[in-house]
Amino acid sequence: MNFNSTIPEINKKLENILIIGSGGRENSLGWAIQKNELIKKIYLSPGNGGSEKIKKCMRINLDITDKKDLINNLKSLEIDLVVIGPEIPLAAGLGDYLRKNDFDVFGPNQDGAKLEYSKSWAKEFMKKANIPTSKSWEIDSFEEAVKIINSSRDPLVVKADGLASGKGVFIPKSKDESIEATKAILNGKFGESGQVVVLEEKIQGPEVSIFALCDGEKYVLLPTAQDHKRLNEKDEGPNTGGMGAYSPTPLITTNLLKEIIKKIIKPTIDELRRKNIDYRGVIYFGLMITKSGPKVIEYNCRFGDPECQTIMPLLDKNFVVILQKCAMGKLTGNEKIDIANKVSGCVIATSKGYPNEYKTGFPIEIGNIDPTDCQIFDSGTSISKNGELLTDGGRVLSIVCQDKDFDMAFEKAYKNLNEINFDGIYFRNDIGHQVRKNISKEN
Ligand code: AMP
Ligand code: GLY
Repeated sequence: MNFNSTIPEINKKLENILIIGSGGRENSLGWAIQKNELIKKIYLSPGNGGSEKIKKCMRINLDITDKKDLINNLKSLEIDLVVIGPEIPLAAGLGDYLRKNDFDVFGPNQDGAKLEYSKSWAKEFMKKANIPTSKSWEIDSFEEAVKIINSSRDPLVVKADGLASGKGVFIPKSKDESIEATKAILNGKFGESGQVVVLEEKIQGPEVSIFALCDGEKYVLLPTAQDHKRLNEKDEGPNTGGMGAYSPTPLITTNLLKEIIKKIIKPTIDELRRKNIDYRGVIYFGLMITKSGPKVIEYNCRFGDPECQTIMPLLDKNFVVILQKCAMGKLTGNEKIDIANKVSGCVIATSKGYPNEYKTGFPIEIGNIDPTDCQIFDSGTSISKNGELLTDGGRVLSIVCQDKDFDMAFEKAYKNLNEINFDGIYFRNDIGHQVRKNISKEN
């Protein structure tokens, strides 16, 4: 593979990377970044029980709230690029602070993170820029909300405005359920995140995730993905952070992608610029492909989890160079990440009880894994004093496999997953049902 033509050098040191976060997403970023021979060391703060299994990766416990100390640590570690994984530090302004101290950061400033941390702001943003999305009302009074719910034809979707760890969205079956959800949110179910409620018209269609790496002006797209948000097979049960994913999705044809770029991606980046927001990081477009075309369900200011674990193994070693160029505001716009001529499937294993209460601390046994084009990215794991790998979260680990087609990729993923065990292990057997031929189409 020849990358020189599409990824010109920017002649800045790129040896030591810091990734903030503790999930499977961050481990997969580390895995993709280590592929580049320029990279010497990758620190994950805080990382998890699987982080140090990845080449060049080391865990470190930095207190990101003690800002002075953080800067001193980054200086002494000679960090060249900071990649911020989760939305909470981005929403708290960690990007702004590190940039003020002259670090190159992949991850937007607080103003850009608002796309995710305020759903009402994001809706206004889309209205201004004429970006297709569901009709919505942003409301802080219960009486007004009831009026709107009762005067709408169908029950409205109810969302807490702010961050709620993916739990702040209610898809009601009746108007009474919409009203109940509105009351719970305005009464403080999500604290300050629920001071404003967003009511939305319910739209229908398959959901897809699109990721644009931005430098404030230009962008590079990653392969598309489809996540499986529901806990149970046949896409039933409660919403979760994501139970598995596959990439790329054939739902996004070349023509549809052109339409998405024209109606959604470009207008989003233009509107950010119009608002003087220098967005250097990934924009995650959560889209629904409706009968009347693609619509934005939500924006996130970070990579999706588990979409990130699924996509990373398809990328070439220059992914990290693109991250650095985004952080420096130096994309040419002609970069193309060389994508493997394979597909990728990811299945998440969770603790029993997730997404509600669950127990942790169970030993994880890993048997005979076929490592060819297969990665295990730990999400919620820790290592005990005597070196044993233990469960330490709701989503415990992801198994990601690549192959020529989705049937082969998922066959390998499930075969390997059967070699992994811990007390209460749960996973869906139908991840990728949309693209697997050897699975009952009733799913
Ligand atoms: P969000 O956190 O906004 O992505 O919402 C979580 C999930 O709720 C989405 O992935 C959709 O499945 C569903 N959802 C959100 N908004 C709507 C809507 N307006 N209509 C239908 N489903 C929605
Ligand atoms: N996979 C969904 C998310 O990361 O929000």
